[in-house]
Amino acid sequence: MRFLTALLLLLQILRVGGKYFPYERVQLSESDVVARANLKFGKTSGQATNSSSNCKTYPGDTDWPSLTDWGNFNDTLGGALIKTVPPAWPCHNGPFGTYDAGKCSSVKSMFSNSSFHMNDPASIMSSWASGSACPPEPSAPCTIDGYPVYVVNATTVKQIQLAVNFARNNNIRFVIKNTGHEFNGKSTGAGSLSVWVHHLKSFEYIPAVTIGNYSGKAARVGTGLQAFDLYPLMNASNITLLSPGGDTVGAYGGYMQGGGHSVISPLFGLGADQPLSMQVVTADGRFVTADPQTNSDLFWAMRGGGGSTFGVMTSAVVKALPVTSFASLSIAFNAGLDTSAISVEAFWEGVRAYFKDILRQAEVNTYGLFVINTPTTSQSFSMSLKMIVPRMTVSELTQFMSPFLSELKALGINASLANSLQHHNSFADYGFHQLTTSGIGDRIGNTRYSSRLFPKENFEPDTLVFNQTFDAIKAVVQAGYQIIGDAVAPTLQSAGYPDNAVNPAWRKAVLHATAIYAFPTNYTAAMIKEQHDRLDSLVRTWRELSPGAGSYLNEADIQEPDWQSSFYGSNYPRLLKVKEKWDPNGVFYATTGVGSEAWEVRASGGLPTQNGRLCRANTGNGTYGV
Ligand SMILES: Cc1cc2nc3c(=O)[nH]c(=O)nc-3n(C[C@H](O)[C@H](O)[C@H](O)COP(=O)(O)OP(=O)(O)OC[C@H]3O[C@@H](n4cnc5c(N)ncnc54)[C@H](O)[C@@H]3O)c2cc1C
Ligand SMILES: *[C@@H]1O[C@H](CO)[C@@H](O)[C@H](O)[C@H]1NC(C)=O
Ligand SMILES: *[C@@H]1O[C@H](CO)[C@@H](O)[C@H](O)[C@H]1NC(C)=O
Ligand SMILES: *[C@@H]1O[C@H](CO)[C@@H](O)[C@H](O)[C@H]1NC(C)=O
Ligand SMILES: *[C@@H]1O[C@H](CO)[C@@H](O)[C@H](O)[C@H]1NC(C)=O
Ligand SMILES: *[C@@H]1O[C@H](CO)[C@@H](O)[C@H](O)[C@H]1NC(C)=O
Ligand SMILES: *[C@@H]1O[C@H](CO)[C@@H](O)[C@H](O)[C@H]1NC(C)=O
Ligand SMILES: *[C@@H]1O[C@H](CO)[C@@H](O)[C@H](O)[C@H]1NC(C)=O
Ligand SMILES: *[C@@H]1O[C@H](CO)[C@@H](O)[C@H](O)[C@H]1NC(C)=O
Ligand SMILES: *[C@@H]1O[C@H](CO)[C@@H](O)[C@H](O)[C@H]1NC(C)=O
Ligand SMILES: *[C@@H]1O[C@H](CO)[C@@H](O)[C@H](O)[C@H]1NC(C)=O
Ligand SMILES: *[C@@H]1O[C@H](CO)[C@@H](O)[C@H](O)[C@H]1NC(C)=O
Repeated sequence: MRFLTALLLLLQILRVGGKYFPYERVQLSESDVVARANLKFGKTSGQATNSSSNCKTYPGDTDWPSLTDWGNFNDTLGGALIKTVPPAWPCHNGPFGTYDAGKCSSVKSMFSNSSFHMNDPASIMSSWASGSACPPEPSAPCTIDGYPVYVVNATTVKQIQLAVNFARNNNIRFVIKNTGHEFNGKSTGAGSLSVWVHHLKSFEYIPAVTIGNYSGKAARVGTGLQAFDLYPLMNASNITLLSPGGDTVGAYGGYMQGGGHSVISPLFGLGADQPLSMQVVTADGRFVTADPQTNSDLFWAMRGGGGSTFGVMTSAVVKALPVTSFASLSIAFNAGLDTSAISVEAFWEGVRAYFKDILRQAEVNTYGLFVINTPTTSQSFSMSLKMIVPRMTVSELTQFMSPFLSELKALGINASLANSLQHHNSFADYGFHQLTTSGIGDRIGNTRYSSRLFPKENFEPDTLVFNQTFDAIKAVVQAGYQIIGDAVAPTLQSAGYPDNAVNPAWRKAVLHATAIYAFPTNYTAAMIKEQHDRLDSLVRTWRELSPGAGSYLNEADIQEPDWQSSFYGSNYPRLLKVKEKWDPNGVFYATTGVGSEAWEVRASGGLPTQNGRLCRANTGNGTYGV
């Protein structure tokens, strides 16, 4: 009997734990680094080293590693070190090559396509945040500026450990890039060594696992997997995996670690609610497991506490969720744009009717995604709404929507659903449909945000605060900004009551409202500063109308006031303790990340960008050098 138990235990260990993916079995050992001072492991966590410098070292500094050092480092990596070349180099005569009209025009045409940047070792999508070092504009300069200097194209854990050790021992700024979707420059940085985790895409379906309170199906996922990678994998194993709405967004990098809302969040919570266990390279260069039993503080923090802060995650075991069907529909109406246009008054009454329906829709686990735009400078407005509702047929959804549709009809809005109703057998099917209609590659570009996680109280119809909330959102559109709203309620109940670091504001939210402004590659700092400040004065009203609510750190204003409580809520003090324990010397840095108030980027250009030295805060001329 005891023998049988032991055997079963062994089988369990072998099955689940193959524990590592093959790329994680290649690890750095003490003997590898015994004779290499700049590659040695860090002291055990908790012991700060004595750094005499207030700033990270920078190219040109005397203590910046020599070319020989970099070459030796590259050898230990097996040749995986890449020297950054800005992808828009063909648009410029300069250090990276000579102007090539054909190549330049093709770069230009792809520069607003996420596929292009996700496949580049260093480029980010919202390039303003790097200081726009090399835009696809021949008239602009092209420099390395806010890009990392070198990138490790990681295909093994050992390479990541070597990179962390090399950066820490040489006092070099360290960056992690997965896809480069992040809006505020958290996946880039001047004078840095970056690790690119994009190619860590392994996958394994685990039919049964017991970890912590969870027993059931699971999957082991490489940190580089993107939403579009997951649809066929879900389909093949007849499971559901929570993933982002944008097909090229990484499902297990900054998205998951910072929260991660999804079409299926009303049923299953957020991305951060999915991991059962993680594998992480920590600031001392060691490779550890973080789960409910082992390093549980790290495990808690890395589920909601933000990317690039506590360690480099290489893989996770996540819940494999049941397959459910969905019905979906779209509605669009506008004022002043085409032959179906209605009056401006009727337009806003239509939006109000939708806002009044949000709580009713939340009761059936709807994910509502809407965009309100003012596409021209005149009195023209457009609203498009997509609703995705689980476990309903198309006719049930039609019936459910009929009170709302009657209200729209009474306003003269053509609310015919004829062409938009769809049924999907699974979340994977929904994803396939999205891919076949849009291709792999979201449209992206220079984008800034401001956002608010509005709780239920703001959306109780017929209350004063409802009216005020409606008016405050309307005012932002009237001022020329785009609103993207995710009407989603990832409650603690939907998430299965996990103990993790997700911003508590998410658990009460019924609408993640974002105000967005995008700008061309030839922007000026003054133009953005004006747009930012004007929006901020309007969003102040959003904050006043939802006291104690927060903002979603992954789709937010980098200049959000009191960001510690807005992005992390009551978790902030505990998160800071975890940060101090696991990264006492600040190996990892992300702007507005936990503990980042101890640092500043001495940026140039007058905007809060990453194109400057990273230094201890309060030793220079203010956070952003302005
Ligand atoms: C088109 C588009 C659609 C989006 N859709 C959604 C959506 O549906 N839901 C939603 O919640 N958000 C969405 N977002 C926002 C998204 O959550 C953030 O952009 C997020 O930062 C992307 O994470 P990433 O790993 O793909 O990107 P990256 O920019 O590569 O990384 C983001 C941050 O995570 C860190 N990081 C990455 N990998 C790791 C790792 N392995 N270990 C530790 N740190 C790591 C990086 O250093 C950086 O700080 C969308 C963004 C865009 C541009
Ligand atoms: C840190 O380094 C400085 C300069 O080298 C030295 O004066 C100081 O005593 C050191 N402090 C500790 C705690 O080792
Ligand atoms: C690293 O080594 C590889 C293989 O030898 C080489 O192709 C690459 O250019 C080197 N990287 C750098 C930055 O020198
Ligand atoms: C990075 O590594 C992957 C996997 O080995 C390889 O396919 C890719 O070409 C490399 N990319 C660059 C830019 O070196
Ligand atoms: C999903 O899987 C089913 C059954 O395995 C298969 O018939 C179907 O074609 C798959 N769908 C897609 C879009 O690949
Ligand atoms: C897929 O899983 C669902 C439950 O999640 C189950 O009802 C269904 O029978 C499964 N389909 C196949 C083909 O295994
Ligand atoms: C209403 O919208 C539907 C679907 O978009 C369209 O087919 C129909 O022609 C429209 N009707 C009118 C009167 O505009
Ligand atoms: C982006 O590029 C990819 C790959 O080339 C393509 O499939 C996709 O359609 C493009 N997307 C857009 C919005 O242009
Ligand atoms: C809210 O606004 C509507 C429409 O303007 C108005 O009819 C209603 O009385 C207002 N309700 C409250 C509580 O202010
Ligand atoms: C497990 O469940 C208990 C009781 O519901 C809860 O207190 C605990 O936080 C849960 N543990 C984890 C790791 O989620
Ligand atoms: C940017 O370029 C557009 C034309 O492509 C031009 O109309 C606009 O004035 C330029 N803006 C600035 C700030 O240079
Ligand atoms: C602070 O700003 C002044 C004037 O702009 C400049 O001369 C000085 O070097 C700056 N100091 C630091 C530490 O950056």
